Amino acid sequence: MTDGRPGITEIPGGPAIRRAALRDLEAIVAIHREGFAGYRSSLLGVTFLNTIIGWFITSPEAAALVVFHDDRPAGFVYGAPTGYAGRLNRFVLPTAALSLLRRPWLLFHPEILKGIPAKARLLAGPRRSDHGAAPGRAVFSLVGIGVASAFRGLGLAGRLMTAFEEEARRMGFEKLRLSVKRNNQAAINAYLKAGWVREERESSSDLWVYVRDLAPRTGEAGMSFPQV
Ligand SMILES: CC(C)(COP(=O)(O)OP(=O)(O)OC[C@H]1O[C@@H](n2cnc3c(N)ncnc32)[C@H](O)[C@@H]1OP(=O)(O)O)[C@@H](O)C(=O)NCCC(=O)NCCS
Repeated sequence: MTDGRPGITEIPGGPAIRRAALRDLEAIVAIHREGFAGYRSSLLGVTFLNTIIGWFITSPEAAALVVFHDDRPAGFVYGAPTGYAGRLNRFVLPTAALSLLRRPWLLFHPEILKGIPAKARLLAGPRRSDHGAAPGRAVFSLVGIGVASAFRGLGLAGRLMTAFEEEARRMGFEKLRLSVKRNNQAAINAYLKAGWVREERESSSDLWVYVRDLAPRTGEAGMSFPQV
């Protein structure tokens, strides 16, 4: 079902959601910078964000969705199968290095310093899985979700998560996983409302891990969000 524009999927009774395309990158990066100001990825600058989010949009293993409100991009969600982090880090390494060369003071920024050991481990070699995901299950990571501040509180994150779930299930995954800063109560409430549960296992000191089992669909084939 479309709303008249090619490639936009209209969820019955809800906003338009479709697979993100590179032409959405500028809007997604702007929403990302607003929602994740002070996070490592934002500190590294727009070129770095273009590279990393561009990877989620174009990589065949990943999924990126964009939601529209009043015909404007209002939010995004993206993710990839667990195990993606090593490949992504190798892909973005040259851009990250260039970003740091341009902003050497960031090497002393606590957010950047904190991430260096994990990044070094990822670059050193493949891991059994990211974030210690249980082996043998097809687990898809929700890596980033954000809604522009002007459109928050309208249920768009909830719609994005439902659409993301559908897409992961359609791609053959059985479980979703994400990590969230422990002090990000708005996001935690949104995940709880969408049916995610916290893993009992300890994650890193300032992060919680949430998971969601994807019950197989019975009968229908499920929605698909067109790549345009
Ligand atoms: C977290 C975020 C994506 C929520 O987007 P949203 O579209 O406003 O969320 P929704 O309207 O779908 O709300 C779903 C639920 O989330 C919770 N929630 C949303 N905003 C909240 C807030 N400011 N405070 C507390 N709970 C909040 C509520 O439980 C809400 O359900 P309710 O409206 O029935 O109470 C948005 O605040 C955002 O982009 N934040 C910055 C980026 C970020 O932190 N992303 C997550 C990183 S892991």
